[in-house]
Amino acid sequence: RVFRHATQASLAVAQQIAALIRTREGEGRPCVLGLATGSTPVGVYNALVRMHQEEGLSFRNVITFNLDEYYPMQPHELQSYVRFMHEHLFDHVDIDPANIHIPDGTLVDTDVDDYCRRYEQAIQQCGGIDLQLLGIGRTGHIGFNEPGSGRNSRTRLITLDRITRRDAASDFFGDDNVPRRAITMGVGTILDAHQVVIMAFGEGKARITAEAIEGEITSSVAASFLQKHPNSQFFIDEAAAEHL
Ligand code: GLP
Repeated sequence: RVFRHATQASLAVAQQIAALIRTREGEGRPCVLGLATGSTPVGVYNALVRMHQEEGLSFRNVITFNLDEYYPMQPHELQSYVRFMHEHLFDHVDIDPANIHIPDGTLVDTDVDDYCRRYEQAIQQCGGIDLQLLGIGRTGHIGFNEPGSGRNSRTRLITLDRITRRDAASDFFGDDNVPRRAITMGVGTILDAHQVVIMAFGEGKARITAEAIEGEITSSVAASFLQKHPNSQFFIDEAAAEHL
């Protein structure tokens, strides 16, 4: 779905998420959301906070699993995705802190594999992700599934691509400060979600958006695997649609 402006696309995504939260509440079931970070979903989170404040949209029934986190990373650090999620969403809505899951960047190396397996199990135990929200990196990554991430990859520790680290350099005040690794849900984890919403805004995303939507399905562009997902939608602005 192509929108003139990112704000319109963000509002449409937020409305879709709000409708799902309300439907699940009506059914007496929790709503399990997969959440993303980066600048792209900020407009969605702003709209959801507004809906909470102005329309009484409640997050009491919502369980969240975030896609990824830098490794290593302490939760209070400026660039941490824990901090990002609290600043942009969790601190402003009535979500139960016990229902928030974000990959833990504080673990020692030897505990990471086991932790990733338990992250997958926790998703399963909630009945799977109802709706997974995604942005796209310039390498075509979803979460931090860099080129080479296979269709069946699961939550794991990965090495960040050079382009991704360069794109994050301003957040970390220099290339060399960007962590070399991250914990991310896998492509397989993401594709297991019942519904996927991926967003891309601005001309800087136009080339990779076209590759993801119309290009070959390949592990060189993790987002291209979404072509095979039975319920995935791209929400993009006109600038990101330029090469379609
Ligand atoms: C990071 C995140 C991704 C995000 C990407 C794009 O790499 N881990 O989940 O999609 O950045 O970021 P932005 O939305 O700021 O362009």
